[in-house]
Order: sequence, then structure tokens, then C-alpha cells
Amino acid sequence: MWIRKQTTSGAFLLCSGLCLGQVVQAQLGTLPKPSLQALPSSLAPLKTQVTIRCQGPPDVDLYRLEKLRSRKYQDRPVLFIKTMEESFAGCYRCSYQNGTLWSPPSNQLELVATGVYAKPSLSAQPSLAVSQGGDVTLRCQSKYSFDQFALYKEGDTEPHKQSAEQYWANFPITAVTVAHSGIYRCYSFSSKFPYLWSAPSDPLELVVTGEGDAVQAFLLQLLHTLVEVPGEGPTGVKGVGGEEKPEALEGVFIIS
Ligand SMILES: *[C@@H]1O[C@H](CO)[C@@H](O)[C@H](O)[C@H]1NC(C)=O
Repeated sequence: MWIRKQTTSGAFLLCSGLCLGQVVQAQLGTLPKPSLQALPSSLAPLKTQVTIRCQGPPDVDLYRLEKLRSRKYQDRPVLFIKTMEESFAGCYRCSYQNGTLWSPPSNQLELVATGVYAKPSLSAQPSLAVSQGGDVTLRCQSKYSFDQFALYKEGDTEPHKQSAEQYWANFPITAVTVAHSGIYRCYSFSSKFPYLWSAPSDPLELVVTGEGDAVQAFLLQLLHTLVEVPGEGPTGVKGVGGEEKPEALEGVFIIS
């Protein structure tokens, strides 16, 4: 249940929590830590091909690649998965041995099987076109009850964010910049099976424009018009109408 409370980038935290079960006995000598990665991606659609590769210095005696919280390991640096299945999903780690020394363990790699459940839908409120400095909320919505959602921006390796409701999650982006432009997809999954994810949502393209000032000016003008409509609202508000912009803003809220 602690997973629900995570507010920062979820995937890594999930892994570090779930992977505490096993520890490689590593003598921390002078050996550099190996790295572990999945290619083409650690998000592996079911039935596709994925390779897990442990990379350390050349000419060492033995590589060990293990799947945490299982009794599975192999003494080879590469695991080639020809057809991704649910049973391969999980958390991996590797190390290597040279002489009597073991290297420190690599980073933990989460291999996620995607396409296990139907895709959620991704939408943007109020609009897909946002002006710089504005706010937008991306909502990932599922037909089924999931407590975890992950949002990816194309080109990023880590999920943008992760949060939880019952059938949807909101990903608010405040003070939007041009860097937020791009293609987004989201996934839904259950904290009970953190490595089995839905298919990705259809892609959603967020367009950030530099027209922030123009839009703001238009809105202010609109607010003034509303405030100045004769006979509408309390008399006090009408008087304020043309004076200062902040006052006019407040006036509209009083009327509504
Ligand atoms: C592994 O051991 C050999 C023989 O002692 C040594 O030559 C080599 O540099 C070691 N490799 C690393 C990465 O330490």
C-alpha cells in the first residue's frame, strides 16, 4: 500500500521497494559496478523480443544475472528473450566476478510486460494546445479499476509521473514550456502486479505555443466586457470595471 503514497517518479521506487528481498554478497573491492539495460526498451510488449545486457569491464571471469525475488539466475551477461511473456517481467540485477572478487551489484532493472490489459485513454484539459506559461492536465482513464498509472513522453526513458485514483489519474503540468511539447502515452496497472502493464494509450500530441500574452490579453478583454454589461451583477462591481485589471478579475468571480 505504500506505493500509493509515492509522488515522485514511480518506477524506480517500486523496484527498490520490491527488490529488497535478495542481496548479492559483494565484496566491495576495486571493481567497477556493471550496468544493466534492456534493449530496445525495458517496456516490452508481450510476444516481442527483448534483450537484457549486463555490461562490465572486458575479460572478467564470470557474469551473474539474477532475477530478484525468484530463484532464477544465469552465469552469462546477456539474456535474450525471443518472445516476451508475463513470467519474464520483474526486477533484474547483475554483477561479475574476477578472481575471488565480486563486483558491486548493477543498477536494478525493471522489465515490464506491456499489453497485458486493454489500453487506457489519454486526454488533455482544457485543450491540447497550450500557451507557454499556461497549465494543462493530462488525464489517463481506464475502463477497469487500476490504482497505478504511468505517463511517458516520447523520447524520455523514465515515466513523466505516476499517481493513483480508481479509474483515472490526472497529471497536471503547470507553467508549460516548449519542452513539454511532444507525444504522450499512458499505461495503467495494478500495484499488486507492478510489472504487468496495459497496452499504451493512443498517442496524444501536446502543442505548446508562444502566444501566452495574446491569449491573456484576449481573456482580460473578455472579462472586462462581462463586467461592463449594464444591469448585470452588484453595482459595486460595475464601478470597478474599467479601472484596474486585477479588480476586474475579482469582479467576474463575484458575479458568477
Ligand atoms: C581481473 O583479474 C585479472 C587477473 O588478476 C586482471 O589482470 C584484470 O585486470 C582484472 N580485471 C578487472 C576488471 O579488475
